[in-house]
Amino acid sequence: MVQEKIAVFPGSFDPLTNGHVDLVERALTIVDKVIVAIVENTHKAGELFTLEERLDMISRHFSNQSDKVSVKPFTGLLANFVREQNAQVIIRGLRAISDFDYEAQMALMNRHLGHGLETICLMAREEYSYINSTLVRQVAPLGGDISKIVPPVIAKAVAKKLKSMK
Ligand code: PNS
Repeated sequence: MVQEKIAVFPGSFDPLTNGHVDLVERALTIVDKVIVAIVENTHKAGELFTLEERLDMISRHFSNQSDKVSVKPFTGLLANFVREQNAQVIIRGLRAISDFDYEAQMALMNRHLGHGLETICLMAREEYSYINSTLVRQVAPLGGDISKIVPPVIAKAVAKKLKSMK
């Protein structure tokens, strides 16, 4: 039997953006399954959503692809998590050259820690190249329209969260 190819797509996802979703879709053209792995940064400054809220809304977004996309939390070293999940590769996105240094360092460290574990970096689509979660967290409370930047389930959750914070 041919072994399934499984990729781990790690991040904070606070919140998930259309750029992340696009990377998952495109990763699925390369591997059979993607695990969206949410790092457990308990109470990181500036955090909008709790880990549980992220797990819930990202799972809901991918619910119609649950055979191919799973959503899991992780703590500790990413390389260990990848091994525990029987995954073979890490997926990351590159938006601009400014992302390169950080991504290259992480890829090399994970290759060291994971004994040859590879990272595939996908170039962000042009239309998503300016999007990141930090900007969503900055713009949304100021009334900026995020409806074209995040999936509908996330836009609703952001609106609800901001209302609850008033
Ligand atoms: O969304 P982010 O902040 O770009 O994600 C960063 C993440 C979660 C991929 C990175 O911080 C990470 O892998 N953390 C787990 C700890 C670890 O393994 N560090 C060594 C890899 S260089």
